[in-house]
Amino acid sequence: MTASPGTLPPTFDRADGHAVFPKTDHDETARLNHLTNLNVHIGRTLSPGVRTAYEGRVKPAYEKEHGHAPENETVVRKAMLHDAYYQQWAALRRNTQEATQQTSREIALTRLDPLSDAAKDLNEGRNTLSLDPDLPIPNYQAKVDNHLMPGSYYESITGEDVTAAATYEVSLFPIGGASFGAKGDGGGRAMANFIRDQNPSFKPKRIVDMGGGIGGNTLPIADAYPDAELIVVDAAGPLLRYGHARAQDMGYSNVRFIQGAAETVDLEPGSVDLIVSVMFWHETSTPTVRDGLRHMHDLLAPGGMMLHLEQPNFDANTPVFERFMRDWDAYYNNEPFWPKLHRTDMVQAMADAGFAQDNLFDAGTEADIEPGRFQPWSTIVTRHRHETKDLGDTGRKLSVLGGYKGERWWMFGARK
Ligand SMILES: C[S@@+](CC[C@H](N)C(=O)[O-])C[C@H]1O[C@@H](n2cnc3c(N)ncnc32)[C@H](O)[C@@H]1O
Repeated sequence: MTASPGTLPPTFDRADGHAVFPKTDHDETARLNHLTNLNVHIGRTLSPGVRTAYEGRVKPAYEKEHGHAPENETVVRKAMLHDAYYQQWAALRRNTQEATQQTSREIALTRLDPLSDAAKDLNEGRNTLSLDPDLPIPNYQAKVDNHLMPGSYYESITGEDVTAAATYEVSLFPIGGASFGAKGDGGGRAMANFIRDQNPSFKPKRIVDMGGGIGGNTLPIADAYPDAELIVVDAAGPLLRYGHARAQDMGYSNVRFIQGAAETVDLEPGSVDLIVSVMFWHETSTPTVRDGLRHMHDLLAPGGMMLHLEQPNFDANTPVFERFMRDWDAYYNNEPFWPKLHRTDMVQAMADAGFAQDNLFDAGTEADIEPGRFQPWSTIVTRHRHETKDLGDTGRKLSVLGGYKGERWWMFGARK
């Protein structure tokens, strides 16, 4: 389904609130709507022009000068840096991201105390939140504010501060151009559908979401398996304080939140039936990928499953223009590990962690949003659609489940 050119995305007032979600005033809402629209406009209308600039101007000029097409993404990038359209597009995208993050941060910061109080009320006296203030912030995250989010996931102005989490949740709506759904859980819903559809008899009793943050994408998995115990593991205290309060307010009593590192979290080996992650690996590091996958293999029970939703990685068939576009966030959006993950053979990494080759699988997916809430096309208006439009069949198929065919996200996983 495609959106007609004039169709506007859903407005911020239609995002689902909860007791710790900032209630925005008229002007704040208008700013967030403007930024949501700008993100959609960039993705839907301006991003295709980057390909046009490359194919119509930059690539022919390069070929004329060198006698061959740009051979890799570094060469494409160097050539594109001189193109006026690319310069303007990149500057607008960067500025829109900065404005989105600054606006969301300001909304959260001006409610520092009320948000902390709301979270405290919901968290106090519950045994489902385990914090470890001594847990070191991973080095790779302490060094940068990921995706330009001021203070990243970790800044705590007071001992009870949850504004990092509120910033994150508010910003998801405009950044995604409202494409993640009213609860921002389009990724988690897609995973829950996939697991249920592909494995109808699989009934996990203990489920862990690694790097699960505020648990937004965990709750759809809890909905899919209401009898299971859910555990969100994350390194960031503010996200867990907020996420736990959020889940409590939304009526989930079977979701625990534990401050820990995915690669070391202290759970009993062999005690977990399902491990998931959403947009986790691209913000980590090579040692964390290696150690995290090994730890997950140890934690899973025999017959257990893991499933990860991520940015699609590269393979030998990924065109150089596609590679160049997908690495953009490393240069201009504080995502330093993103390019490395693109080039990491995660299939081999899963095998190296102990998973049998025959038990590996992958698939592509779009966001799944609650029916009847936002227009169905609102999931497909972002830039990724344009970058992958002529990717075709990548030939990457790990199993009968379909493989990745140029969808927005890549899901990869394994059975133990
Ligand atoms: C992009 S966010 C995704 C959060 C969540 N999965 C979601 O879908 O909203 C990445 C998360 O990974 C967490 N993280 C990074 N490294 C970690 C590690 N080694 N162990 C646990 N959490 C980690 C961060 O604190 C952050 O919450």
